[in-house]
Amino acid sequence: MLRSNAAQAKALAIPMTLRYPSSMPTAVPAVFPPASEMEVLFSADQIAARVAALGQQITTEYGGLKSGLPIVLIGVLKGAAIFLADLARAISIDNTFDFVSVSSYGRARVSSGAVKLIKDIDNPIEGRHVILVEDILDTGLTLSYLRGLMLQHKPASLKIATCLDKPSRRLVPIEADYVGFQIPNEFVIGYGMDFAEIYRNVPDIRIFPNNPTH
Ligand code: IMP
Ligand code: MG
Repeated sequence: MLRSNAAQAKALAIPMTLRYPSSMPTAVPAVFPPASEMEVLFSADQIAARVAALGQQITTEYGGLKSGLPIVLIGVLKGAAIFLADLARAISIDNTFDFVSVSSYGRARVSSGAVKLIKDIDNPIEGRHVILVEDILDTGLTLSYLRGLMLQHKPASLKIATCLDKPSRRLVPIEADYVGFQIPNEFVIGYGMDFAEIYRNVPDIRIFPNNPTH
């Protein structure tokens, strides 16, 4: 198993320029191991069952609301796109969705933890019941920033749904209302989540062997 092979892990040490390329690589470099060699943390079936349960929970909790308008799921691009697509269909009351995109300056490795909005919501959310949908709640910097921003729009309510939660990595106090799975301090890929834009289409969630940013 690659994960426990220190020599291979060392060989996989990837320079920063390769980690976050400014454009998509034209060919997948050899340093990116095939997902099939990585340990499965949650299978596609396990994810589907959990997302179905979250969808039912949200349906129950929002079902009695009398706003008359669909709830608004706001996905954080790009990692949350697949989770949002599944969650939206697992919720059986009317819902619509919008997307935001943020860039963070090195995330946990930069003390400022600055997050910048790259793409705002397309439609107003004032008076609407909103759920922010994220792939991973990690340090919490991204969702703290987004929650503050969205609250300025005066939604009727604002909750957070995250596919994964890594509580041990938190730098700011924030919790999600709906959590798919809590995970330990591992770097994961698949089900929308990437390493340098690779592996987003992997149907299950797997552990990247070199723990690249942790
Ligand atoms: P944070 O909570 O502001 O630290 O950032 C969360 C974001 O970091 C997520 O939305 C992901 O884009 C990214 N991220 C954190 N951990 C992982 C991981 O294990 N795999 C892939 N992306 C991750
Ligand atoms: Mg993300």
